[in-house]
Amino acid sequence: MKDEMKKLADLFYTRIIGPGSGVNIHWLRKVMRALGVKDENIDQLYIINAPLSREVWYYAFLKLHDSKKLAEFLNILVEKFGAVNLGNLQSALPSLSLEYRDGRFSTRVFKIAVLVSGRGTNLQALIDAVESGKLNARIVVVISNRKNAMALERAKKHGIETRYIPAKKGEKREDYDRRLHEALKDYEPDLIVLAGFLRILTPWFVSQWRIINIHPSLLPAFGGIYGMAVHQAVLEYGCKVSGCTVHFVDEKVDHGPIIVQRCVPVHDDDTPESLAARVLEEEHRALVEAVRLISENKVMVEGRVTKIRRVTD
Ligand code: GRF
Repeated sequence: MKDEMKKLADLFYTRIIGPGSGVNIHWLRKVMRALGVKDENIDQLYIINAPLSREVWYYAFLKLHDSKKLAEFLNILVEKFGAVNLGNLQSALPSLSLEYRDGRFSTRVFKIAVLVSGRGTNLQALIDAVESGKLNARIVVVISNRKNAMALERAKKHGIETRYIPAKKGEKREDYDRRLHEALKDYEPDLIVLAGFLRILTPWFVSQWRIINIHPSLLPAFGGIYGMAVHQAVLEYGCKVSGCTVHFVDEKVDHGPIIVQRCVPVHDDDTPESLAARVLEEEHRALVEAVRLISENKVMVEGRVTKIRRVTD
């Protein structure tokens, strides 16, 4: 059982389960049925009139693992027993995709800010994934340093807020990043996605946010260059495979821990353009996958290595 979930279940168990509370196996079965959860094991316990032990209580939480159902269940408990003091458990709620405010639980949406400079097909992949429900997240803002970036039009078309933040003439990198930082603060993003953002960010900025980047090669090969130059270099080197990398951003360019990589074959008759098109298709998949894993709190970082958390971890 997920640690945070167990602590939450424990908190409610120790606070409310007891003689006179009215919470017993009958009540639990009734509430779970009202939430649309029919469960044979609970039914059995109900038939034999078993006590509502801690284990049964954990079991019920596991059955309610879907964050929407869990929020509904917790709200029923709050209505019955009054608002709870979550103490330091409050900080554990995001990993359960929950929020607790003004005495009510709700599902928490993972907020993404996307930084762009150009055509925005990777942004589009994220928009499509959010709209189709593949990604349980919201794109809260799209920021571009270039006015005519097609990505801004894509965002507007889908009702996403946009900001155009150009660099001023002679402006220091850090000053630009501070303005970018101020703009981002308004949206409280959980993650910043660099999807074709053609600026190098300062170490200070990188230390302020969780940031990922997508690069159209299999890093560490062919880092530090961008656009067609990457694919040109892959072909000139004579590589037989290429691909894309989604990685966390650290102080060095195209360097942080790798989250997802996908590869494609290189064909003898490839041009930089044909290879770029094949890689781009994989970029869209890789980026959505990486954002999904992060939004579900499944990516563990150990040094420069990431590992994917399994359900039982
Ligand atoms: C992609 O190839 C990405 O890997 C690189 O910039 C390009 C952006 O393309 N960082 P798009 O604007 O998402 O279409």
